[in-house]
Amino acid sequence: MSSNVYEDAWRLVTGSSTMYSEGCKRGLEAKIPNYSIERVLVVGVGGSGIVGDIVAALFDGYEVLVHKSFDIPAYIGSDALVVAVSYSGETAETLRAVSQALNRGMAVVGISTGGRLAKLLGEERVISVSSGLEPRFAVPEMTGVAYGLLCKIFGVDAVSFLESVRELERYLQGVKVEDFTHIVERLVNRVAVCISHGHLRPAGLRLKAQLNENAKHPAYYVEMPEACHNEIEGWTYLSNFYYILHRSRFEDVVVKEAFDWAVEHLGGRGGEYFEIVVDASSRAAELLKQIAYSDLLSISLARRKGVNPFTLTNIPLLRPRLRRHGPKFS
Ligand code: F6R
Repeated sequence: MSSNVYEDAWRLVTGSSTMYSEGCKRGLEAKIPNYSIERVLVVGVGGSGIVGDIVAALFDGYEVLVHKSFDIPAYIGSDALVVAVSYSGETAETLRAVSQALNRGMAVVGISTGGRLAKLLGEERVISVSSGLEPRFAVPEMTGVAYGLLCKIFGVDAVSFLESVRELERYLQGVKVEDFTHIVERLVNRVAVCISHGHLRPAGLRLKAQLNENAKHPAYYVEMPEACHNEIEGWTYLSNFYYILHRSRFEDVVVKEAFDWAVEHLGGRGGEYFEIVVDASSRAAELLKQIAYSDLLSISLARRKGVNPFTLTNIPLLRPRLRRHGPKFS
């Protein structure tokens, strides 16, 4: 495998601060329906779906709901704005959810490069993002767009988010390939278990998905403190697993207790684990840094395994079968 693919992927992640800030500008400029919106439902799956998780975490205190499926939940009324995120605009689940929303008379805004989503909604209701990327590499730009859009909807100033993006940029200037050697050597022959909590939930979800898609590696996600009530009883066959914990500088005392117990327990039984910790001035900055760290970790593992972080094998096999169930276009 040419080393260029790893360098290209690495460069996309280390340049992600620009994608966040330019996306945010575009979202702030978007046209929104002129009625008061109390809540937002973000629909989308996979790389596009994580955008919903990230903005929901960043907009703590606002009603931002995330639904990763082919429908609109029955309890969502027409007072909600549906934000449909699909990089390709061709994903069957998202298209079905959007056509259901339109049939129910709901307002929908899309974030996409176009595709059938733009046909369904009309170009003017889609905020376009740069084309030519794999959806998962466009997450910073799509997140920026969604963030800017939600700022406009809820009347929130984007200044502190843009400050977090600048903090991310400074952080990424100091990250080196060698920082990941230790963790990758232990992870290469083990199933990854990604554990996180609260505002870092999207970082755990992102790491799981990026290990799957970029490194073609088995990875699962578990959430604290729920894991304390089931997951930990299954902590047997420890040598098969590698536990990756996204730790926060802002951890609640109960969550800290649970994480501290987890590492003592694993460490005392020969379990392999790694705690991702970053310095950050705010929860938002911490989340953006932990996401970028997770992305770089997945690229480092892809390099170690000699797999291409840009290509996919199984998702393209399944997509056409799912597409048969999407809305019909003439
Ligand atoms: C591919 C990727 C996938 C897609 C998913 C949905 O890079 O990350 O998880 O995001 O298959 O496709 P889109 O994003 O086009 O709706």
